[in-house]
Amino acid sequence: MRRIVCQEWGPPEQLVVVEGPDPVPGPGQVVVAVTAAGVNFVDALFVAGTYQIKVPPPFTPGSELVGRVVAVGEGVAGLAVGDRVLSSLGLGAWASHVAVPADALTPVPTGLPDDVAAALVQSYCTAWFTLTRRSSVTAGESVLVLGAGGGVGLAAIDVARALGATVIAAASSPEKLADARAMGAEHVIAYEDEDLKARARELAGGGVDVVVDPVGGRHTEAALRALGPFGRLAIIGFAAGDIPRLPTNQVLLNNRTVAGVDWGAWAMRNGAAQADLLGEVLGAVADGRLHPPTPTVRPLADAGAVLRDLLDRRLRGKAVLTP
Ligand SMILES: NC(=O)c1ccc[n+]([C@@H]2O[C@H](COP(=O)([O-])OP(=O)(O)OC[C@H]3O[C@@H](n4cnc5c(N)ncnc54)[C@H](OP(=O)(O)O)[C@@H]3O)[C@@H](O)[C@H]2O)c1
Repeated sequence: MRRIVCQEWGPPEQLVVVEGPDPVPGPGQVVVAVTAAGVNFVDALFVAGTYQIKVPPPFTPGSELVGRVVAVGEGVAGLAVGDRVLSSLGLGAWASHVAVPADALTPVPTGLPDDVAAALVQSYCTAWFTLTRRSSVTAGESVLVLGAGGGVGLAAIDVARALGATVIAAASSPEKLADARAMGAEHVIAYEDEDLKARARELAGGGVDVVVDPVGGRHTEAALRALGPFGRLAIIGFAAGDIPRLPTNQVLLNNRTVAGVDWGAWAMRNGAAQADLLGEVLGAVADGRLHPPTPTVRPLADAGAVLRDLLDRRLRGKAVLTP
């Protein structure tokens, strides 16, 4: 088997490919031959050693995968060699073969391509959790999505549209704004060039109802100030690097709410509730309410280069690695 290894925390260029024997499934595990593994911002944080959970090297990054079951361990029921499965496992997905606890696997719905399925769990579960559990969005409301051309951003547009909201997408480049429009955003804002607060308020006809913020930095306060009465700001992440400090008078004004979104930790601690959430997402994909985008496909050995593209804001939408 081949796997990507982070030998020391640092830039993604330090990642290496290591060959070794195929894993053998322990009790309760199966071995999956990976066909596609998703790339997410959190992988870059693990590799840099800057995520809130610090994993000492050496380790194999990669938090989601799709593949075929090739070996079944003792005590595993309901899974057989050849089954097509997906998993969101935190670490270890960037490999040709991975031993995974059987209860961490979900069958891939028929008709959903491997690459699309491998790129959707983290982004779509985060977006669905944000807009149905940490804020509730109702039909006719306006949702401003920051970083709208990224993984969480595109998923948030899709989810908000499925819930009947009008979407204003904010991103840095014309290409990302075009992707956001293609996903269903009615309005776009080039937030590095335009006045985010003024433009969002204008487009929403007064103030926006919900902000989805996976970016942080200077845009968060402008987005908070764009919220109308009873508006909600969902804090998902800090891709821009800076963790903003917000003036609480701006939360008080207009009866606004700031909601933290920690889907990752919630999912780890609440397996049954996460299974329900994933079921809702996959159900909405199956019946055509959600439209997860086709990711860029790159070979496993390109893991470091793909993370570099992501960190330099060149990556559009999602990418998967194929062993
Ligand atoms: N809380 C949770 O449970 C949870 C779950 C999933 C992800 N997250 C977090 O959400 C954030 C986004 O994740 P993602 O997978 O969607 O990432 P992504 O695909 O890379 O998208 C992030 C977007 O942030 C924007 N950005 C602004 N400044 C940036 C900078 N200096 N470097 C990189 N990107 C920058 C980019 O859009 P523009 O170029 O258009 O500005 C980029 O498209 C990350 O912080 C991640 O850790 C949190």
